[in-house]
Amino acid sequence: MIRLDAVSKRFGDLLAVNALTLNIREGEIFGLLGPNGAGKSTIISMISGQQQLTSGTLQVGGFQPDSKASKRLIGVAPQAIAVYEDLSAIDNLEFFGSLYSMRRAELKQRCTEMLEFVGLTDRARERVEKYSGGMKRRLNLAITLIHDPQVLLLDEPTVGVDPQSRNSLFDNILALKKRGKTILYTTHHMEEAERLCDRVGILDQGSLLALDTVENLIDEHGGASHLSATTATGVVDRDTHQPVVDLQEILSKHTGIRDLKLQRPELEKVFLNLTGRQLRD
Ligand SMILES: Nc1ncnc2c1ncn2[C@@H]1O[C@H](COP(=O)(O)OP(=O)(O)O)[C@@H](O)[C@H]1O
Ligand SMILES: [Mg+2]
Repeated sequence: MIRLDAVSKRFGDLLAVNALTLNIREGEIFGLLGPNGAGKSTIISMISGQQQLTSGTLQVGGFQPDSKASKRLIGVAPQAIAVYEDLSAIDNLEFFGSLYSMRRAELKQRCTEMLEFVGLTDRARERVEKYSGGMKRRLNLAITLIHDPQVLLLDEPTVGVDPQSRNSLFDNILALKKRGKTILYTTHHMEEAERLCDRVGILDQGSLLALDTVENLIDEHGGASHLSATTATGVVDRDTHQPVVDLQEILSKHTGIRDLKLQRPELEKVFLNLTGRQLRD
């Protein structure tokens, strides 16, 4: 659905995106995981046609990124929330919806549905300046969806969001996947990638270091699991690449085992192993 072939973006001396090749499949939630400055927003803005590529090719649903057809196909929720603070949610939605050629009745109907979808119906007539960060993010998502796009580009949609709104956003995103939408989701939070994404690309300094399902990334780059057993005489623990074999060995050698823990590495470890650095907030 979204195809990038050797896409690079240069800002002066800085290579913000380095020969990125990526194929995001129809109906998947694809996560781009990387620290601040990795190039996530730059990639989003090239896909949405807001920035030109320096080199390479990019297509969305087979269309050029700045074409009318691809604009119709895509909804972007920018990292910097783009809503009018002095308007109500409903006026914001009607305004952004009017940029797409929708019939008046259809637009009204979409506004009502989207307010309901993001849980803002009760507050729809209040000025947005009174909203919490989480409510603004939810409105940002509703605006993204107003023309019922097939492809969603969600750029760090949980920044500045309280836990309740965060869960509500996650529910929304999973519901959109069920409706067949293709979703590109950027984040610097491991647990969001783990929870939501079918596949994850790990991005650092403009380069894609690895791309796979979370499970496969952990198998491939996560390193050893940690096994620990509390026996009658103390704790036996070790790092292991063959936990089942080691577990059997421990069980055969020790009696009176009180506790057993097998811990697989997490995505955090994958990033550390690939970059030599921690990915922290
Ligand atoms: N318009 C711009 N002009 C110059 N440098 C930019 C511009 N936009 C982004 N950058 C730089 O490109 C790099 C990638 O930025 P960005 O795509 O915003 O990363 P992320 O979204 O992963 O935090 C950063 O070093 C950033 O400072
Ligand atoms: Mg960004």
